[in-house]
Amino acid sequence: MTELRITIDVNGEARPCTVEPRLTLADCLRHELGLTGTHLGCEHGVCGACTVLVDGVSARSCLMLAVQADGAKVRTIEGIAGKNGAFHPLQEAFHRLHGLQCGFCTPGMLMTLLEFLGEKPDPTEAEVRDAISGNLCRCTGYQSIIAAVMAAAAEMRRLGMRS
Ligand code: FES
Ligand code: FES
Repeated sequence: MTELRITIDVNGEARPCTVEPRLTLADCLRHELGLTGTHLGCEHGVCGACTVLVDGVSARSCLMLAVQADGAKVRTIEGIAGKNGAFHPLQEAFHRLHGLQCGFCTPGMLMTLLEFLGEKPDPTEAEVRDAISGNLCRCTGYQSIIAAVMAAAAEMRRLGMRS
């Protein structure tokens, strides 16, 4: 099959790769670029585990082809910590308040929340529940997730962070 040369800006770094047109963005990130923090659950757009930001907008990377991201800026879970490796406030709050157990859903959850908190820095709990309604968690229970998001939002406001 014909392969295409594409370049995706991933977490601020130009990442050229050669892909088949049928390769999904999720598989490109995981298998071509070694970024396995993006998880695959359902592989048909339901669970949200594969969520990344494409030009600042959340996208199911299992439903998008890598060639569609040619020239785009993609942000993955590997790109949210501070330059010195310090946790992002979302990571810190999920860690401290037990917003995860197995962690499988967590990367997609956090990428969805990054977009959401950028648009709505002071959300209500109901708005947070609505925002993550497309991210399925099978083991934590949502109460501690919501508590972590509220704490992270407060910390991001304190720091003047929007993403
Ligand atoms: S793996 Fe993409 S939505 Fe479930
Ligand atoms: S932490 Fe296990 S699925 Fe969400």
